[in-house]
Amino acid sequence: MCGIIGYIGKQKAVPILIEGLKRLEYRGYDSAGVSIIDGKKIINLKSVGKVAELENKLSDSKEILGTIGIAHTRWATHGKPSDQNSHPHCDCSGKIHLVHNGIIENYLELKSYLLKNGHKFKSETDSEIIVHLIEEFNKKLDFKEAVLEALKKIRGTYGLAIINQDEPEKIIVARLGSPLLLGVGEKEFVIASDASAIIRHTDQVIYLEDGEVAELSLDNYEVNNIKNKKISKKISKLDWSMEQARKSGFPHFMMKEIFEQPETIQIAISGRLVVADGMAKLGGLRDVAEKLRHLEKIVIVSCGTSYYSGLVGEYFLEEYAGIPVEVEYASEFRYRKPLLNERTAVLAISQSGETADTLAAIREAKNKGALTLGIVNTVGSTIARETDAGIYNHAGPEIGVASTKAFTSQVSILLLLTLLVGRQRDMTFVMGKRIASEMAKIPKLIEKIIKKSVEIKRIAKKYIQYKDFLYMGRKYNFPIALEGALKIKEIAYVHAEGYPSGEMKHGPIALIDKDFPSIFIVPKDSVYEKNISGMQEIKARGGKIIAIATVGDKEIKKHADDVIYIPKTLEMLTPLLSVIPLQLFAYHIAVLKKLDVDKPRNLAKSVTVE
Ligand code: AGP
Ligand code: GLU
Repeated sequence: MCGIIGYIGKQKAVPILIEGLKRLEYRGYDSAGVSIIDGKKIINLKSVGKVAELENKLSDSKEILGTIGIAHTRWATHGKPSDQNSHPHCDCSGKIHLVHNGIIENYLELKSYLLKNGHKFKSETDSEIIVHLIEEFNKKLDFKEAVLEALKKIRGTYGLAIINQDEPEKIIVARLGSPLLLGVGEKEFVIASDASAIIRHTDQVIYLEDGEVAELSLDNYEVNNIKNKKISKKISKLDWSMEQARKSGFPHFMMKEIFEQPETIQIAISGRLVVADGMAKLGGLRDVAEKLRHLEKIVIVSCGTSYYSGLVGEYFLEEYAGIPVEVEYASEFRYRKPLLNERTAVLAISQSGETADTLAAIREAKNKGALTLGIVNTVGSTIARETDAGIYNHAGPEIGVASTKAFTSQVSILLLLTLLVGRQRDMTFVMGKRIASEMAKIPKLIEKIIKKSVEIKRIAKKYIQYKDFLYMGRKYNFPIALEGALKIKEIAYVHAEGYPSGEMKHGPIALIDKDFPSIFIVPKDSVYEKNISGMQEIKARGGKIIAIATVGDKEIKKHADDVIYIPKTLEMLTPLLSVIPLQLFAYHIAVLKKLDVDKPRNLAKSVTVE
């Protein structure tokens, strides 16, 4: 989820590129770099850390007058944040420079091919293989043909901008799975990952589509498909403010991140879910595969929303991998006397990878000789570095304090872990294939739910005046009841409690009256009837109910005041769907109350202190 910007025109490129990187820094900020065509050579400067570090390096160097260049602010996926792993990357000759947004799934096989052909690599990234592949093809083909041939060899996602010292009057850009826009100015172009870096230069944009490649020169552009067939593209008008542009047109980062979930779940499973074999491939756990086979227990340690994804994982792993699991609040775990040994894995789940309690829990686990694993979104973060092995979400920066896309990405990766461990044990091929094929459909199913945002806003309006809510769910959806309650607490400041529905009659039902509504997560699953009777008990006491139910369930309307339908899927996968309406419900309540959705009071995005 990095930021790319390029410029070709008559103005000095550096100020435009640096200003653009600052606009895009919310997309990733591990490192930044520029490459500028300056007369007969290309100047390349890059630095680990934020754009400001790069700016310092530039101000310490001789002024760069070139008017064509590319730049990148990185969200690392392959290779830790470092100067060497920063983009732009160049080929062996130093003549071709490239920036990349995305993940190259087959980079290892391409890298070994290129090494055999004498290429020397400077970085650990997947991206660097692209520029060497272009160099290889450029030995026999012209620059653009070489780019097209290289792209045909790549599996994965890319947004690319490429310059070549031997063809100093052009920039080539390409996209597949990662966004890229062309800003069309007066005899100049600004290309960028999103509109926030373009809007101050022009409101005339061309949206590149997947599989398209554009060649930009000073006063012309041409767009082709990967087979070099020319494509005509219309020029659209951007009607966003600068601030809106940073959020890709969404009013808040939280809404943008809710809407990104089909894409981020797709990223979490791509190259890892093997439907044909009913398996999962998790490269980050390759070195501990044998230890995973002999595990006797998994202890999940995490906080907040990441704790709730761990609870979903507990149900997954126990039911489908047959392994005992405990889920612990990290802040409690570290002060208890946990019984761990070398056959225990302690799994930290953390979006930021910097949560102090979770980090302390991992250090405690290491002291006791346990295998430590991580599911982390921020590459190179402390928890990612201190665990023995782990899996990255690659969900891109989560800016909204309320965690949304990280949660569903964590649950998706826990599902992959369940497949991996389960198929090492007694999960059958048939079961694995059934789960894997249903998981592959989840991104599309979430898209259907997201389209209900306006309907959910209408329901939120009806409940805006209530001060308290009870969220109820059973089995796989009990953690979703907890997560839904947390969402409305943390962004709308409404008191809410999540409970397993079965617990209701052991006390919480005393709270129910006409002013204390409940939200029931009641998909058509193995505990549906139990939930219905819980709803009847609430209705009998005058309580209002919003139900999250399976599409086609007509019965539910008799027991609820409002119903939000989610598509049918395997029982174990319903949490990935049932959480979406609860994210949107909390979001709309907060917006209707005119609260600061992205930066709620008293909270921080990453709690790096005890
Ligand atoms: C969730 O919406 C909150 N932002 C918070 O509970 C968060 O999940 C918790 O602080 C854990 O953060 P981490 O995933 O970065 O470790
Ligand atoms: N996969 C590339 C890297 O790790 C690009 C990551 C990004 O999109 O920022 O450098």
